[in-house]
Amino acid sequence: MKAAIRTSYDEFPYRSVPLRQTHPDHLATVASLFGFDAADVRRCRVLEIGCASGGNLIPMAASYPDSTFVGIDLSAVQIAQGAAEIKALGLSNIRLLAMDIMAFDQADTFDYIIAHGIYSWVPVPVQDRILALCAAQLAPRGIALVSYNTLPGWRMLAIVREAMLYQTRDVEDPRARVAQARATLDFLADAVPDKNSAYGRLLRLAAEHIRQKPDYYVLHEYLEETNEAVYFEQFVARVVAQHLRYLADTDVRTMLPIGLAPRVEATLNRIAPGLMRREQFLDYLKSRSFRQSLLIREGAALDRKLSPARVMALRVATPVQRRDAVVDLSSDRAETFLFADGRKLEASQPIVKAALTILAAQWPLAIPFDQLHAEAAERLGSGARDSLADRELLASEILRLHLSGAAELHRAEPPFVLAAGPRPEAGAVARRDAPRGAASANLRHEPIVLQEGERALLPLLDGTRTRTEVAAMHWPTLTEAARRRELDATLASLGRQALLVR
Ligand SMILES: C[S@@+](CC[C@H](N)C(=O)[O-])C[C@H]1O[C@@H](n2cnc3c(N)ncnc32)[C@H](O)[C@@H]1O
Repeated sequence: MKAAIRTSYDEFPYRSVPLRQTHPDHLATVASLFGFDAADVRRCRVLEIGCASGGNLIPMAASYPDSTFVGIDLSAVQIAQGAAEIKALGLSNIRLLAMDIMAFDQADTFDYIIAHGIYSWVPVPVQDRILALCAAQLAPRGIALVSYNTLPGWRMLAIVREAMLYQTRDVEDPRARVAQARATLDFLADAVPDKNSAYGRLLRLAAEHIRQKPDYYVLHEYLEETNEAVYFEQFVARVVAQHLRYLADTDVRTMLPIGLAPRVEATLNRIAPGLMRREQFLDYLKSRSFRQSLLIREGAALDRKLSPARVMALRVATPVQRRDAVVDLSSDRAETFLFADGRKLEASQPIVKAALTILAAQWPLAIPFDQLHAEAAERLGSGARDSLADRELLASEILRLHLSGAAELHRAEPPFVLAAGPRPEAGAVARRDAPRGAASANLRHEPIVLQEGERALLPLLDGTRTRTEVAAMHWPTLTEAARRRELDATLASLGRQALLVR
């Protein structure tokens, strides 16, 4: 079995990319919303189990030089790829180990343990080991993130998986397996006699979904030998047996009755009281197939009541834009703010309008709530307003925006700047990636596509050259004024993409 997993990932490596929802800053932020104080991201210890080639861990290590990172993975091929990246980036705060998690026996404790995309694809003894390791090696204020396939959602996907496995059972070569699996599903979706039956619709939707996914994903998500989905309550029972405690899911919004009619919510409260039963019942309601759960050590104190006071200790960012050049801060007139995807946000209270104006100019930087409130209050003019009431109003509104997906909250100071300094410096990962291709990661821990015109400039931005030197090297044929204009515009664009550190 182990050999099968190793071979599968060695021969067909997983494309390992930054996973924002696993970032310690995100875990710490969710934890603080629930009254749990996690370790400072700028000085923490992180372990990733099943780190593949380190695409998630390496950008974190590059952003937080005073934190330490350990990744383990069974696939020596993937670990060797990651080790080459680490060497090229000159990082000394990260180690990737090619080993079986069953053999990992370091005594160190970790503030954050990430096990993403592994639990459901390994046999039960390895699953138990993942949770046992979290229990043994989490620091007292530590948080583990474990993702896993859930029932009842995966029950339906299992039908598709089993059909594909059946038809590819004798095919050894991974590429040929994926091709044949795709062809099988396409055939079934097309040939199913009753296309409008539940089965017909399931096949069609699954075929559409899988057609958009790359080969490595189809192989590891659907065709691995092991793929065990569990009910949320079963998972929590395993967690409790290991003396761990369920804290939350990585997307807090999934824990709220968003989108449910009041009548449904009332019934839910009656028939599924308490957090665990409610979470389980929501999975039935939504046919959930995947969870990313945060775990802490048993006995840790929590207060899950979401309150605006918690927001006051956090940083805020939102990708909102102003619609009009001038926003009326003197009245309760409703103003519209826009998101890049066309969504609109209406705000009428002056303190909220002032804060959104500030956030629009600062994106993607997250600014401390207190600073946001102070700057917004200043824009409204001192004396005229009740600052304490405004502060509470703003915190409630930010919490509401966060829970509707319109505003981000962060615990840690961002590891990037919006405006470049006199010797501009881009993040090390993007500088290394730019000459090789467009795929990279920004300092918000997102996979990004580097823009063609910016790729050649990035390697020059290593913090040793002045702006004039960079511009002369990059635009040798332009006049000095034109160079300056080009450089200012490009640096502004890189800043907005969270690619600059200085
Ligand atoms: C689907 S990939 C997920 C990679 C990455 N965490 C992500 O989510 O993008 C699962 C990884 O777990 C590793 N793995 C499987 N069994 C393992 C074990 N027993 N010990 C260590 N790593 C293991 C595989 O080699 C593979 O790289």
